[in-house]
Amino acid sequence: MKAFLTRRYMFSASHRLQNDGMTVEENREIYGKCNNPHGHGHNYKLEVTVSGQVAQDTGMVCNLADLDGFVNREIIERFDLQNLNYMTEFSHTIPTTENLCKVIFDILHRGFRHAHLEKVRFEETMMNSFEYAGGGEVRH
Ligand code: NI
Repeated sequence: MKAFLTRRYMFSASHRLQNDGMTVEENREIYGKCNNPHGHGHNYKLEVTVSGQVAQDTGMVCNLADLDGFVNREIIERFDLQNLNYMTEFSHTIPTTENLCKVIFDILHRGFRHAHLEKVRFEETMMNSFEYAGGGEVRH
């Protein structure tokens, strides 16, 4: 029997949306307030969905302690209260929440071994959420 497990996390980070290959005016036009030179912060809500066979002995897809341990160590501790623009993951990538989805998905996909990673979902604000499930597609 296959089941899905979604766990919710939170971290705060700042970013500035800016494409260095474009002019000041182009950046301002495309990104608007998000191009403000001083950046701005978000309280990101991250949802991680994993799936797998429900183990006969435990009745679980995976142990929440394993998922929490991995996410807290590899994601929350690294990203919380950071400026995303200065992180190595975004040295050549604009830190939109679409791209943040892929960065976080890739970290989990590379390192989390206790269940199959289905997708990550970010709430950036009350009005926006973004999802990434691998395969190069982001759904708004
Ligand atoms: Ni923003």
